[in-house]
Amino acid sequence: MRLIIVSNRLPITIDRSNKSGFKRSIGGLVTGILSYINKIKSGVSEFEDYLWIGWAGKSIIESEQEAIKREYKENYKYVPIFLDEKVQKGFYEEYCNKVIWPLFHYFQDFADYKKSSWDCYKQANVIFYNTIKEQIKKDDFIWIHDYHLMLLPQMIRNDFPNVKISFFLHIPFPSYDIFRLLPLENQQAILNGLLGADVIGVHTIDYAQEFQKTISKVLNFKAVQNIINLGDRFSKIDIFPMGIDYKAIKEISISEACSQKKKITKERLKNYKIILSVDRLDYTKGIINRLEAYYNLLLEYPEWIEKVILKLVIAPSRREIDSYKKVKRAIDECVGKINGRFSSDNWIPVEYQYSQLNLVELCALYGISDVGLVTPLRDGMNLMAKEFIAANSPDQGVLILSETAGAVNELFDAISINPFSVDEITSAIHKALTMSKKEIQLRNERMHLRLSSYDVSSWANEIIQTTQEVNSSKVSLLKI
Ligand code: G6P
Repeated sequence: MRLIIVSNRLPITIDRSNKSGFKRSIGGLVTGILSYINKIKSGVSEFEDYLWIGWAGKSIIESEQEAIKREYKENYKYVPIFLDEKVQKGFYEEYCNKVIWPLFHYFQDFADYKKSSWDCYKQANVIFYNTIKEQIKKDDFIWIHDYHLMLLPQMIRNDFPNVKISFFLHIPFPSYDIFRLLPLENQQAILNGLLGADVIGVHTIDYAQEFQKTISKVLNFKAVQNIINLGDRFSKIDIFPMGIDYKAIKEISISEACSQKKKITKERLKNYKIILSVDRLDYTKGIINRLEAYYNLLLEYPEWIEKVILKLVIAPSRREIDSYKKVKRAIDECVGKINGRFSSDNWIPVEYQYSQLNLVELCALYGISDVGLVTPLRDGMNLMAKEFIAANSPDQGVLILSETAGAVNELFDAISINPFSVDEITSAIHKALTMSKKEIQLRNERMHLRLSSYDVSSWANEIIQTTQEVNSSKVSLLKI
């Protein structure tokens, strides 16, 4: 059996400013699926082969497309999709990132709907479909990812009624009151599009419940035990909290390269407690509140002055979008405010890095940090929180985690905070910095157990197995 992965972005996209001509993609989706592909490559998965179809990340003139396709095929099993500039802008920048992304993260004031961008969204989904159609072979298993491609499952289903299709949403599914802000035609098309899949997977029970409520309000379909009877087939909504590659993170963390990095940074920062904050640049990540909380910590608990360092790492993202430019400026200002107010001859309170780190560099940072500060205002899952725990031994590292991040449902031994309350974050940092080794160990052991027993393979295997089963036992399901 072959696995066809379809996502908006390929794991590496074209970047002519880079020597190799490509750059690594960031975000939880790519990180998680790449880990699963490693399992396929090493033969510990039920798939013999795989193919990844996705956008090349840049519009390329037609005469150059063939060469790029060959490059992707020869070096990786990737099939690039090319979108012209107009479609790319309307689809990716405008509809995906200025309508769906803000709405699904409850930032309705940031949403900016245009009929033309919806048209581009439909058009881009058709372009993806046309490429998939050329690739599908009998017995392929199709796994579609995320909010960019919500119309795709039904497009495939119309022409391939028996192919197995799984859809996974990596971001939250919002409440009906938010979803209904989309024009009705969009609402219906998105939900009908998703229902083309055998399984629609989400990270948490809340997202699954909101989805079922929305389906019933908009399409008048009632799910019985998570299953929607569509007449000739079924579609199941199910919960699969995405895991990490726990073993790989552990291995990287003890590798020579990582240990070296840890040693150098630890030596340099040996006099300080380290608070770590790592994110893709995004207004949903709550970075400003986090910085304000750190500022307050230094004001309210002056004993931490010259005793603590906030290591702030932000990976550039969606730079062409105004709201992202704005949040970047706000972060720069806030860092300036803290460093301007508290720095001394031998101490800078915030060490700020605006760059994309690789996993070895990240694991080195996780491993030397006393506190992991993960305070998104809204987040589908947040794999950083999981990686932070995994990369440390159980007696090291206190995790502070938003109650509005999907990961909190599994990591309930973290210090959970309301990310909108700066005061709560401030107190949580102080609590984390003063927590006894015994308590850290007690909390972290339970989280290690969860992360090692339900990892990225368990996540993918469960999705695949559930998808295999849904329409194969029609007789018993029809009784529902
Ligand atoms: C989030 C989304 C992914 C997306 C990633 C990076 O994790 O869920 O689908 O790929 O952000 O965003 P970008 O817009 O650069 O692809």
